[in-house]
Amino acid sequence: MAVFLFLFLFLLLCSAPRLGFCKSTIEPCNGSEACQALVGYTLYADLKVSEVAALFQVDSIALLAANAVDVSLSDVENRILPAGIFLRVPVVCACDDGIRKVISVRYRSRPGDTLASIAGAVYSGLVTADQIQEANGISDSGAVDAGESLLVPLPCSCFNSSDNSLPAVYMSYVVREGDTVAGIAAAYSTTISDIMNVNAMASPSVKPSDILAIPLPACISSFPRFSSDFGLIVANGSYAITASHCVQCSCGPGNLNLYCTPSPLAVSCSSMQCRNSNLMLGNVTSQPTSAGCNVTSCTYGGLVNGSIVTSLTTSLQPRCPGPREFPAFIPLPSALPHGSLLAPSPSPPHAGAADVIAPPKSSVPATVALPGGSPSNSGPAGSISGDQTAAAPPPTAASSPPLLLLAMLCLAVAPRAFIP
Ligand SMILES: *[C@@H]1O[C@H](CO)[C@@H](O)[C@H](O)[C@H]1NC(C)=O
Ligand SMILES: *[C@@H]1O[C@H](CO)[C@@H](O)[C@H](O)[C@H]1NC(C)=O
Ligand SMILES: *[C@@H]1O[C@H](CO)[C@@H](O)[C@H](O)[C@H]1NC(C)=O
Ligand SMILES: *[C@@H]1O[C@H](CO)[C@@H](O)[C@H](O)[C@H]1NC(C)=O
Ligand SMILES: *[C@@H]1O[C@H](CO)[C@@H](O)[C@H](O)[C@H]1NC(C)=O
Ligand SMILES: *[C@@H]1O[C@H](CO)[C@@H](O)[C@H](O)[C@H]1NC(C)=O
Repeated sequence: MAVFLFLFLFLLLCSAPRLGFCKSTIEPCNGSEACQALVGYTLYADLKVSEVAALFQVDSIALLAANAVDVSLSDVENRILPAGIFLRVPVVCACDDGIRKVISVRYRSRPGDTLASIAGAVYSGLVTADQIQEANGISDSGAVDAGESLLVPLPCSCFNSSDNSLPAVYMSYVVREGDTVAGIAAAYSTTISDIMNVNAMASPSVKPSDILAIPLPACISSFPRFSSDFGLIVANGSYAITASHCVQCSCGPGNLNLYCTPSPLAVSCSSMQCRNSNLMLGNVTSQPTSAGCNVTSCTYGGLVNGSIVTSLTTSLQPRCPGPREFPAFIPLPSALPHGSLLAPSPSPPHAGAADVIAPPKSSVPATVALPGGSPSNSGPAGSISGDQTAAAPPPTAASSPPLLLLAMLCLAVAPRAFIP
């Protein structure tokens, strides 16, 4: 990855009230092209699925599918999720002022909210009070009037939806007490050096409330640019629902080829049958021949002008495909026992990294409480000082083709100093 990235550093005013500094990964960008990304979110209270979805203005079904929850369960949007569980929230990662960020999330403030409680609790540290303040031009950093609609700018990364030349979707992960880069890498089946490269880290050390971009292997679609679900990307082990809830696509576990079928939701949809055949979306027939296996499949090609595009492809493959495997569904916890299968109740009430997506890991608390040393790490090496803020354009430090630019930002000064 480092080979393709030209990294530079700049600073962001960043206030984590209890910490001397925090850092997060910044990806400069161009134009208006967006991508799909994920943010890792820890529930601060027992919330309905639809309430969590509303916090991020995402579709409840899309949220569940991204966490490998079976969306055909009855009344699934009204299930209550317990505080402390960790979810991957699918977001649109836009380009705003030359920096990748989520700009579609707004929060309607309630009585008693403060910028700090919205940032630290409601959005589990994905954003800082200062960032909300700045994004909304608020002059007073304290209380917020109830009923205000606040833009909540969340960190996200696209990096061309690839990592080491393989398709990847990036998840913003808020480092928690006790996390180590090694533990995070293990939880997400990646390597320390990959996380360091992606995040332009000079040393493998993190502090609580740092935000890392974590590459997750994914299946990428090749829908035409004019389809409304262009760019669909699904992390290994999870699902996505597209085409107005008509089509469900999955990724993994056996390979990273996107696989789409009619969705299990009862919705009225345009035809999902491939023309000139009796095959439906997702159907595969195979016939062994002397030359190999003649495989015919009916695949999904995106939603174009409200119509589901299907295409019939035939290929000769060395071996006939075995039965289709699907990512295992994660059972939805009931709100009663805190923790349950999704969150095997580590002592600070947050579930670990991959547990929601990867069921085998959820039974191993060790991967949940990401063991290891904590704040004794030294500060991020390689940080520079300066007075830039998030809104400032990135300095031109890179000298080579600006393919994917990555900057790590870091503020090694107590945030108080910046609060008037
Ligand atoms: C995808 O996930 C499965 C487990 O769900 C794992 O066995 C497989 O190695 C993963 N594939 C990649 C490319 O990471
Ligand atoms: C074709 O796909 C439909 C819908 O997914 C499924 O119900 C049916 O069993 C499949 N038929 C074959 C022959 O695979
Ligand atoms: C492969 O199967 C398809 C449909 O089943 C058929 O039309 C085609 O002729 C077959 N091709 C070969 C090389 O057997
Ligand atoms: C979508 O529909 C509009 C008119 O309804 C048409 O002009 C356009 O070419 C269509 N796009 C595609 C990709 O079919
Ligand atoms: C930004 O756009 C300009 C012109 O459109 C292009 O030359 C440049 O390479 C782009 N930079 C990045 C980082 O994509
Ligand atoms: C982005 O990824 C695509 C393949 O997914 C590749 O063809 C293209 O060259 C990449 N672009 C850059 C700027 O790396």
